[in-house]
Amino acid sequence: MADTPQETLANLLSEERTFPPSPEFSKSANVTAAAYDEAAADRLAFWERQARRLDWSKDWDRVLDWDDPPFAKWFTGGELNVAANCLDRHVANGLGDRVAIHFEGEPGDTRAVTYAELLDEVKRAANALTDLGVEAGDRVVIYMPMIPEAAVAMLACARIGAPHSVVFGGFSVSALSSRIQDAGAKLVICADGGFRKGRPLALKPTVDEALESCPSVEKVLVVTRTGQDVGWNDRDVKWEDAVGGAAAEHEAQAFDAEHPLFILYTSGTTGKPKGILHTSGGYLTQASYTHHAVFDLKPETDVYWCTADIGWVTGHSYIVYGPMSNGATQVMYEGTPDTPHTGRFWEIVQKYGVTILYTAPTAIRTFMKWGDDIPARYDLSSLRVLGSVGEPINPEAWIWYREHIGGGSVPVVDTWWQTETGAIMVSPLPGVTATKPGSAQRPLPGINVDVVDEQGESVPNGGGGFLTIREPWPSMLRTIWGDDQRFLDTYWAHFDGMYFAGDGAKKDDDGDLWLLGRVDDIMLVSGHNISTTEVESALVSHETVAEAAVVGASDPVTGQGIVAFVILRGQAESSPEHLAELRAHVAKTLGPIAKPRQVIVVAELPKTRSGKIMRRLLRDIAEDREIGDVTTLADNTVMSRIKSGLQAGK
Ligand code: WT7
Repeated sequence: MADTPQETLANLLSEERTFPPSPEFSKSANVTAAAYDEAAADRLAFWERQARRLDWSKDWDRVLDWDDPPFAKWFTGGELNVAANCLDRHVANGLGDRVAIHFEGEPGDTRAVTYAELLDEVKRAANALTDLGVEAGDRVVIYMPMIPEAAVAMLACARIGAPHSVVFGGFSVSALSSRIQDAGAKLVICADGGFRKGRPLALKPTVDEALESCPSVEKVLVVTRTGQDVGWNDRDVKWEDAVGGAAAEHEAQAFDAEHPLFILYTSGTTGKPKGILHTSGGYLTQASYTHHAVFDLKPETDVYWCTADIGWVTGHSYIVYGPMSNGATQVMYEGTPDTPHTGRFWEIVQKYGVTILYTAPTAIRTFMKWGDDIPARYDLSSLRVLGSVGEPINPEAWIWYREHIGGGSVPVVDTWWQTETGAIMVSPLPGVTATKPGSAQRPLPGINVDVVDEQGESVPNGGGGFLTIREPWPSMLRTIWGDDQRFLDTYWAHFDGMYFAGDGAKKDDDGDLWLLGRVDDIMLVSGHNISTTEVESALVSHETVAEAAVVGASDPVTGQGIVAFVILRGQAESSPEHLAELRAHVAKTLGPIAKPRQVIVVAELPKTRSGKIMRRLLRDIAEDREIGDVTTLADNTVMSRIKSGLQAGK
């Protein structure tokens, strides 16, 4: 990481376009501008009011205990059951017949699961887990495709106070076993397999192999999804038998507000994965409030769809805990956006009348590349809020999203947060904020985020530096599982009394926040720190470019030189003149300092399984080195294709 950049980040990109909410939207919005004032007047009282959105069995004594920073405790003394807040209370309020999940399997099979049905299944699953010897505090690893049982498994764990650790279904044997070992899990819940890209993809054999080195695991609970042949061991139990045969009644017991809810491992590219620990009361408060505020959810009428996988924090906070605590009706889709055809997402939006869509920039740029004509074939007029998360969204991708998916009128909310923050921290409010393409804009009410220089001093508007969080927040990580020291070293050692998120950011002249990517990706060109994100956004603003990844390659003259890898839109063709034009376009947009030394056209980019570009590997190509560790790539053959494509083009 660039611990001491010579200069704060250059502030290159500027954006003039803004889109205020329509008066009709503002009029019926869940949250108004008053929320900012209320939170500013008394931050803890604000969060206390949000906690009242939930049902507590016992009230708290203190809103925040920050006596031993940075180890926070929220709503101390309070007790609640997280699953009961997501299910029982809705059913008790007469909403049992509301659809909780419209499930769409990749092969086209569908299921509508109501809140009453979900509660029934979760109660049985809770009883089944207890029958299998799982007690409060025991860890359960979940390794599943995107099927309703994944949510059932999480909620059943929450119900009995057994922290879950969901491992993304695409992870390998070693990634799975190291997480099971670190968590010391007693039980694994998996499926035989899931459907992906038109084929059944087995999961159970990966579990079997992983368990060869996981002595803590006593039982494996296996959901039948694909029905494919998988090996069977003495410790294996069929979900259908155990859950189907379990008692239907289950009284949810309340747990302490600080009872561990889940551990989620961040897929660090190097070193041992970090088990991010989230607890119950504060986490659910912020997940629930932000889902209500940022997406303006009207549970009676909205159909919400978050396209993330349950294996990422987005799936935890914005498929399971946020939406379900709010009684939302949502779509859950098992497969990929191009199976069986590239219009699948829009077909699903049309079919279910999706009103709120939450997806990632990597998906949006892929849709841009596939062409405008594909979404144009579907009726997307039900949509009324569009969200983005996971990476900085380039202004042109933002505009494309608003125009081609949102019909030119739907508010786009760019939400910044992390596995560690547990819930959204920075985002526009769709009924309040005049949105600005590419900017996540303002910390949410009750959140204190800042951009600071190397000394930890707040930078003025127009300045750039490091994104930090100045005050504890309810859904903050409590520690790294089993490693308090690493928690301190990783997040709290850079700036005194502040959480450092690892991201670079700037404040524009209006004070709006722009995320500039991870600081380890930031380039140093002739003594200037330049953000990869800004150069990428400049490239994507050229009509021929769908996606760009930029790296700093060592350069004898400038320290680092900017090398850009670009994917072209639709049918665009390249030529030496075109590449020169792209370089000139960046220079014109951002200034000569940001002009790429080289632009390389590629067909694909290396991405992690959660869709983040792995610039480290592109740097290896730009510096003509042996390519480094590719194990965390979604497709680990992509680097050899990029390399051979380059050689063919030489
Ligand atoms: C990192 C956290 C939060 C859920 C998904 C990712 C990047 C995330 C944005 C955004 C710019 C973003 C940051 C952050 N990031 N959202 N709206 N704008 N960057 O969770 O895997 O823990 O990754 O994702 O670099 O630190 P995660």
